[in-house]
Amino acid sequence: MRITAAVLTSSLVASVASENHAHDLYVGSLGARGHVERRALPNSPNGYTPSKVNCPSDRPAVRGAGQLSENESSWLERRRNATIDPMKELLNRMSITGFDVNSWFNEHSSNASALPNIGLAVSGGGWRALLNGAGAVEAFDSRTTNSTGAGKLGGLLQSATYLSGLSGGSWLVGSIYVNNFTTVEALRREKDGSVYEFGNSVIEGPDKSGSQILDSAGYYSNLVSAVSGKRDAGFETSITDIWGRGLSFQLINATEGGPAYTWSSIALGEDFQNGDMPLPIVIANGRRPGETLIPANASIFEFNPWEFGTWDPTVYGFVPLQYLGSNFTNGIVPISDQCVVGFDNAGFVMGTSSSLFNQILLQVNSTSLPDTLKSVIDRIFSAIGKDNNDIAEYSPNPFFKYNPGTNAGSEYDTLDLVDGGENGENIPLHPLIQPHRNVDVIFAIDSSADTPYAWPNATSLVATYERSKGQLANGTIFPFIPDQNTIINLGLNTHPTFFGCNISNMTNGLSTPLIVYLPNSPYVTLSNMTTLTLSTNNTYRDAIILNGYNVATRGNDTAWATCAGCAMLSRSFEKTNTPVPEVCTSCFNQYCWNGTLDSRTPSSYEPTTSLQAVKLNGATQLSGKSWSFAALASILALFWNL
Ligand SMILES: *[C@@H]1O[C@H](CO)[C@@H](O)[C@H](O)[C@H]1NC(C)=O
Ligand SMILES: *[C@@H]1O[C@H](CO)[C@@H](O)[C@H](O)[C@H]1NC(C)=O
Ligand SMILES: *[C@@H]1O[C@H](CO)[C@@H](O)[C@H](O)[C@H]1NC(C)=O
Ligand SMILES: *[C@@H]1O[C@H](CO)[C@@H](O)[C@H](O)[C@H]1NC(C)=O
Ligand SMILES: *[C@@H]1O[C@H](CO)[C@@H](O)[C@H](O)[C@H]1NC(C)=O
Ligand SMILES: *[C@@H]1O[C@H](CO)[C@@H](O)[C@H](O)[C@H]1NC(C)=O
Ligand SMILES: *[C@@H]1O[C@H](CO)[C@@H](O)[C@H](O)[C@H]1NC(C)=O
Ligand SMILES: *[C@@H]1O[C@H](CO)[C@@H](O)[C@H](O)[C@H]1NC(C)=O
Ligand SMILES: *[C@@H]1O[C@H](CO)[C@@H](O)[C@H](O)[C@H]1NC(C)=O
Ligand SMILES: *[C@@H]1O[C@H](CO)[C@@H](O)[C@H](O)[C@H]1NC(C)=O
Ligand SMILES: *[C@@H]1O[C@H](CO)[C@@H](O)[C@H](O)[C@H]1NC(C)=O
Ligand SMILES: *[C@@H]1O[C@H](CO)[C@@H](O)[C@H](O)[C@H]1NC(C)=O
Repeated sequence: MRITAAVLTSSLVASVASENHAHDLYVGSLGARGHVERRALPNSPNGYTPSKVNCPSDRPAVRGAGQLSENESSWLERRRNATIDPMKELLNRMSITGFDVNSWFNEHSSNASALPNIGLAVSGGGWRALLNGAGAVEAFDSRTTNSTGAGKLGGLLQSATYLSGLSGGSWLVGSIYVNNFTTVEALRREKDGSVYEFGNSVIEGPDKSGSQILDSAGYYSNLVSAVSGKRDAGFETSITDIWGRGLSFQLINATEGGPAYTWSSIALGEDFQNGDMPLPIVIANGRRPGETLIPANASIFEFNPWEFGTWDPTVYGFVPLQYLGSNFTNGIVPISDQCVVGFDNAGFVMGTSSSLFNQILLQVNSTSLPDTLKSVIDRIFSAIGKDNNDIAEYSPNPFFKYNPGTNAGSEYDTLDLVDGGENGENIPLHPLIQPHRNVDVIFAIDSSADTPYAWPNATSLVATYERSKGQLANGTIFPFIPDQNTIINLGLNTHPTFFGCNISNMTNGLSTPLIVYLPNSPYVTLSNMTTLTLSTNNTYRDAIILNGYNVATRGNDTAWATCAGCAMLSRSFEKTNTPVPEVCTSCFNQYCWNGTLDSRTPSSYEPTTSLQAVKLNGATQLSGKSWSFAALASILALFWNL
């Protein structure tokens, strides 16, 4: 059986699947080689509940992390090629005087390793990070209205090879990819569905509108029945299951938050397979048995559309993502066992990366929900257990008895994962600094709440630098990052800053990516909403997104756009012995950290908006809660037009 675009609602798939064609349906959508779909799919045969299927004849196995997967290598040939035209177009717009874009590309486009290999990384930090990151991605997306004029960076997304996200950043990445590589503009446009409506928190559940048909009680019973279904099928569940299902209502544009959408189905999309978009990667940290605090040397696991695993010299292996949930033992599924599909639910993956926020669910008592509902919710939590409430249980452990010499969890039947930022690296750089990926430049969007007023001070970059010098480095290289006092004293967190400019200062300069640090700072609004702010009206939501746009473009500064182009090309200049254009030299003088240190304790960091602030209470746009007022207004408008 073939899934057609018409069969995209999860309820339909789930009801078809609850007949005994489940297996056929799955194989029909995944098995036939060369068969592609138009977008990520609700292809879990039994909705949120993972299903047993016969293993393919080519039985799924863990592969060692010694090189890129074959899937990624062959996809990269298409992707790297597909970035050439967008890069040329963007660089031409960036007005790099003294650099002839077209002739440079004509000369070098057959040598892929000389062309800029670009990564984008979106940090964690809850809804603040989602929104600030969304503003940057909106600015980088050539599909965004007015994003391709002077001073604009539209096309950087189309030029990038990789896009990584962590925690709140994973919600951004997931909401774009699971919704058919949609745009941020569409995600927040009310007529395009009920996603990105944050007026009601995950605790309260969505407004009954758009594709959502549930009230609060129905919402919770929906969350619970999905998760009980998984448990009744014999899988361990944790509070992350409830959390991920709840998040999906805000992020996945389908009825009931699309319980059948899988992360691995991203790889089935035709546009994805053609290399028409960057590779999405989200990360989570591993927690060793018995550990509660996550140390800096926790293993960092990644979910890409094909695989789940880690490059770290601990587990050092990857499992095919679509078969996560199968009983792998020492890297293989025993011949006596069936395989499992549908475990890699897209919401569960995003929930895992953001499992720190599980604890939010425990704040139910402070909401205005009716007491009867609170007591139901409370019973759910006591059934799940409040201990370990920040973890996601991956059971069976896909790396059971795999690499027992270095894999501390190899004897355990469960792999515990926690929020990707818990080891202190709140920007998902780890996947992008893997030597096999050869990334040249990383645009790192940092929405961390490092300072007392919830602004970033590059703590995450410092952590990544420290890790790159330690036992887990395993070939990763990262430029030197000064201490956070220096960052604040030199104002390096108030505008874009480049790290790793001086390749002669580094032992492996050409292999070290240039870091373009884009710290959250206030242009048109105080975008430092606290990490635990759970609901946001649409006025403030859009103000933070606009602020993020301005963070990325430096307020549409044409001189900055030129410098962003120089950053894109920096390693390529070196690799091809191209003389650095004068305009780029002055960019590097302006934006590169030049090695100066000023480690004195700074005074309190309290920036104010540098441009005119957007009005927040002018009710120019209505909050989620005022929906009925908006409806009334539009009805009145209709009458006036008659
Ligand atoms: C996904 O997006 C592509 C490109 O915009 C479009 O051609 C396709 O029809 C979309 N698919 C679905 C199922 O919406
Ligand atoms: C590279 O991309 C161009 C268009 O962007 C296309 O015409 C060409 O076939 C591609 N080459 C390969 C090897 O994919
Ligand atoms: C795009 O730019 C035009 C001209 O400056 C402006 O009128 C329009 O409102 C802008 N649209 C958006 C969505 O920013
Ligand atoms: C949500 O889905 C509807 C129906 O398929 C589509 O029209 C809309 O554009 C989608 N919204 C987003 C943000 O992709
Ligand atoms: C995995 O192993 C467990 C315990 O032996 C068993 O209950 C379960 O059915 C197995 N799963 C599959 C898919 O065979
Ligand atoms: C909410 O309040 C009730 C009654 O005071 C209490 O029993 C319960 O443990 C609280 N729930 C949570 C999640 O704190
Ligand atoms: C930077 O952030 C870290 C992490 O939150 C914090 O401990 C430190 O005090 C901050 N330093 C400055 C100067 O803001
Ligand atoms: C990375 O770790 C693996 C497993 O321990 C080891 O085989 C490999 O040589 C290491 N690579 C580098 C570049 O250190
Ligand atoms: C590079 O510069 C940093 C900061 O000035 C310095 O600490 C480091 O030792 C230098 N590294 C090399 C290899 O020269
Ligand atoms: C930058 O351009 C965007 C898109 O046109 C616009 O919304 C924003 O207000 C501009 N920023 C400034 C500071 O003018
Ligand atoms: C945001 O930052 C400003 C200073 O820049 C501070 O006055 C304000 O209290 C901060 N807001 C939050 C929620 O931390
Ligand atoms: C939206 O939220 C912001 C921040 O909490 C608040 O200042 C503003 O008054 C709200 N605006 C509306 C229209 O509700």
